[in-house]
Amino acid sequence: MLKIGVFDSGLGGLTVVHAMTQIIKGAKIYYVADTKNAPYGEKTPEQILQYSLNITEYLIETYKIDALILACNTATSSAIEHLRKSYPSLIIIGTEPGIKPAIEQTATGKIGVLATPVTLQGDKYQKLVDALSMQKSVDIYEQACPGLVEEIEKGEADSEKIKVLLETWLSPMRENDVDTIVLGCTHYPLVSEVIEAIMQCDVNLIHTGEAISKHLLTLSTKNGHSNEGELLIHVHTTGEIQIQIIDSIIETYETIDLIKVDNKLKINR
Ligand code: DGL
Repeated sequence: MLKIGVFDSGLGGLTVVHAMTQIIKGAKIYYVADTKNAPYGEKTPEQILQYSLNITEYLIETYKIDALILACNTATSSAIEHLRKSYPSLIIIGTEPGIKPAIEQTATGKIGVLATPVTLQGDKYQKLVDALSMQKSVDIYEQACPGLVEEIEKGEADSEKIKVLLETWLSPMRENDVDTIVLGCTHYPLVSEVIEAIMQCDVNLIHTGEAISKHLLTLSTKNGHSNEGELLIHVHTTGEIQIQIIDSIIETYETIDLIKVDNKLKINR
């Protein structure tokens, strides 16, 4: 069985796991929600790198994983290069804002990008935008969303606070004919309905869970994975988590266990 480690700061990465359940079979997914350290998007890149290294080490030592998915744009921005150098034989796939499909799909030539402050300030994001804007000229409306992940983690995706925050951030996009919005944080698909209601048009929301899952299937198949059999999911958390939401995000799974790993993960070295 293919053993896949997946992590994020909290519930957001489960939107990637949901996409994996549609594509990956014959595997065990070990998901770590690092809720003790959430939100990552408001930490320093050095702190995020340290959390990412600790979780990766834990997943390798405890479960001997074959593949690691950074189901978090913020951790990908701060840690993926370091992780690839440290673990060259491990399949490592990150999450990056889907600017490319957004540029390809926009009809108005105006796209919005919602992401955490760390992701938008990171070199990785800047390089991606610079490279892609050479291919087609589009107007990009970038918006950092501090505080949004914390609200989503509370488990009320349509709370008044979330509506007010998103209305403030999205109204300039609505007024400027943005037709495609990149959800550059894996938590944001959980507030898709609120975004759609505020945009008041048939807005195209881009997230990359499916692309990540297909990429994982391609790489693992090359390593002999047959993609047959049941899919098992174990969710680990380093702190508090809204357990009831896990079910509603993942929807289909064979087995799910909630394992608290607070005492096993060394957060500070
Ligand atoms: N879900 C994450 C991301 O994709 C992390 C958000 C956070 O913890 O701030 O960026």
